[in-house]
Amino acid sequence: MEERIAQLLEEIKQFTDDAEQFRLKYLSRKGILSGLFEELKRIPAERKKEMGRQLNILKRTAEQHWEMLKNARAGTHSEAEGAPDLTLPPVRHTTGNLHPLTLTRLRIIEIFERLGFSVADGPEIEDDWHNFTALNFPVNHPAREMQDTFFIEKKQDEQGNNRDILLRTHTSNVQIRLLEEKKPPVRVIMPGRVYRNEAISARAHCFFHQVEGLYVDYNVGFADLKQTLYHFAREMFGPDTQIRLRPSFFPFTEPSAEIDISCLICKGKGCSVCKHTGWVEIAGSGMVHPNVLRNCGVDPEVFTGFAFGMGIERVTMLKYRIGDLRLFSENDVRFLRQFHTVIQ
Ligand code: PHE
Repeated sequence: MEERIAQLLEEIKQFTDDAEQFRLKYLSRKGILSGLFEELKRIPAERKKEMGRQLNILKRTAEQHWEMLKNARAGTHSEAEGAPDLTLPPVRHTTGNLHPLTLTRLRIIEIFERLGFSVADGPEIEDDWHNFTALNFPVNHPAREMQDTFFIEKKQDEQGNNRDILLRTHTSNVQIRLLEEKKPPVRVIMPGRVYRNEAISARAHCFFHQVEGLYVDYNVGFADLKQTLYHFAREMFGPDTQIRLRPSFFPFTEPSAEIDISCLICKGKGCSVCKHTGWVEIAGSGMVHPNVLRNCGVDPEVFTGFAFGMGIERVTMLKYRIGDLRLFSENDVRFLRQFHTVIQ
């Protein structure tokens, strides 16, 4: 038996085949080693101890060898395989990177957090009250129509009130949710995804992202809105950026203004991005309408506020000069990887 053990010790070390074959041959229940342990029972008592010791050594050696074979298969080099081939090309370690829209969102949050804004979010599946009615949309306002809104359920309650369920068309719903919960002062930005029933093209998509801003307190005025957005534009796009406010209309703000920034691409001279005007729109804004405050239980005689809603895609396209909105949702890594080294 001693001889057999010695011979097996050698044989095992030479074994370079598949780990599973090794296990079957030597270590399984019907393998060579368990045969030897069977034989051990019949060995005379005086030699049994020594033989048992040697057999255990053999078993341990076999188990170690089996481990090594398994590791070799998992890709680590083993003696059995010989030295690693240093001429092989190395395995490339690639790290992921943040999506450009995420980079922009984080940067926007950073800028507003420094002005004392906190961050909140709200549901994408919303009811008519929070998306429209509380925001002072008249009953037959065109924005409620089918061509703009994705409705999930059209409903009315017994009193005839509109109880529609829909995909939110803007982040302004969070203004309402917030003011219903929390009394002023509030100074919050609310990033999120919104949905509109539009044909997909380079300039429009059926879903996109906005950041809503809301500041309600004593004595908040239009100058605060203007200065806040001016500060934002310079932080985001550089110190030379100009802003322009154009009179506009939203049911939930009065007065309302569209915010343009000077075109970064042509520096205001006129190009295709700014449609030769020198200006590009980035946000809608205005002073919160008294009806909106009232709908949330806030007294408009005591508090005033401003709100704005900014398109994250729009800001990203301007900042990184991206010409097609569809690139953001196609997940082409050749596009996404370009933002790998972007340091904010
Ligand atoms: N909700 C508006 C939109 O989606 C933007 C906006 C937000 C305008 C807040 C004014 C105030 O177009």
